Amino acid sequence: MSVTILVGGQWGDEGKGKVIDLLADGVDMVVRSQGGNNAGHTVVSEGREFRFQLIPSGILYPRVTCVIGHGMVVDPGAFLAELDTLRAQGISTDNLVISDRAHMVMPYHPAFDKLGEQQRGDDRLGTTARGIGPTYEDKVRRIGFRIGDLQKPKFMEKKLRFVLRLKNEALTKLYGVDPFDEQAILDEYINYGELLDRYIRDIYPIVQGAISRGERILLEGAQGVMLDIDLGTYPYVTSSAPTAGGACTGSGIPPSRISNTIGVFKAYTTRVGYGPFPTELHDGLGDRIREVGAEFGTVTGRARRVGWFDAAVARYAVNTNGIDAIFVTKLDVLDSVDPIMICTEYVSKGDPSPTSSTARRCTRRCPAGRARPGTAAGWRTCRMRRGRTSPVSAR
Ligand code: IMP
Repeated sequence: MSVTILVGGQWGDEGKGKVIDLLADGVDMVVRSQGGNNAGHTVVSEGREFRFQLIPSGILYPRVTCVIGHGMVVDPGAFLAELDTLRAQGISTDNLVISDRAHMVMPYHPAFDKLGEQQRGDDRLGTTARGIGPTYEDKVRRIGFRIGDLQKPKFMEKKLRFVLRLKNEALTKLYGVDPFDEQAILDEYINYGELLDRYIRDIYPIVQGAISRGERILLEGAQGVMLDIDLGTYPYVTSSAPTAGGACTGSGIPPSRISNTIGVFKAYTTRVGYGPFPTELHDGLGDRIREVGAEFGTVTGRARRVGWFDAAVARYAVNTNGIDAIFVTKLDVLDSVDPIMICTEYVSKGDPSPTSSTARRCTRRCPAGRARPGTAAGWRTCRMRRGRTSPVSAR
């Protein structure tokens, strides 16, 4: 039996999709534990391109059971659209299950996401506008809808009446926008219930059964450690826990069953949305790396902010997640860059975490970067041969 957790070690978009695809071929089950369709990754398999947002990319392997864990938030419309696309590409979705306890994005959630951002003005977070934050808010406030509710239309109806009254009051009185229609939402979601019924399960016996049979399980992380609601650069974070701890709670697999935790890091750093980014490049070199690395968001198409590799962030990710192996992606993007800068530590007393207030104050004082730079001679990945280790300077 082995249970592997895979986490993004930076601010997401580290190239986890590629790594997951490499690993998924050798496992029996892939579980996603957090996030929703704010995530997105592209996998190229046998020359064909597949885009994933909610469905684990293990779906490309028919013998792999793919689980959407209860820590996720699922937009049923987006989920069905993704299913349709996969089926049109000839991919079987028979081995897919979705936890009855995963929360649902409701039509008012993206509306609140956008309105909340407008209200914040200059302090906005730069969310993906998919309603992820408001869905997790309702989960914690205990007025959320779970996927399993779709199988109880009477319960849905009663609960929606109560919840929508709260939502519409906020929409009309606080934001001055039109309310949502209860019957329209109910009709839409009852229809989703019929279409999703075959996938909805209590995943507890499925996941525990796989553990007791000694199967190999991969917990596929979305986003990255620095976007974690607790461990990240709050408030410029997502609303879930994209960390090893979050993988456990979002799947129901206990920490004592985890065999290893893999961190994925890009050879440089990117971030979408607002918030601190000490090693950010504001010059032409940043633009060049963005172009060569095709650093544009898969979900929103936004240009990603680009900067040097931040070893203080990497250390923090390793320490807070118990990462025992790393994958470094996109080394080749830096082939023509020489010298390559790496932030080795933050300049302040002690060793502050990259999310500490000391580090934050420092960022404000020197927006061009509070990082103490180190340099590495440029590397040429084209000299690498298959199966060989990375160039010495990259290591
Ligand atoms: P939200 O998750 O849509 O609420 O967005 C909150 C922050 O997380 C924003 O800065 C987003 O750009 C960022 N974010 C959310 N999902 C991803 C992702 O998959 N990759 C990179 N950034 C993300």
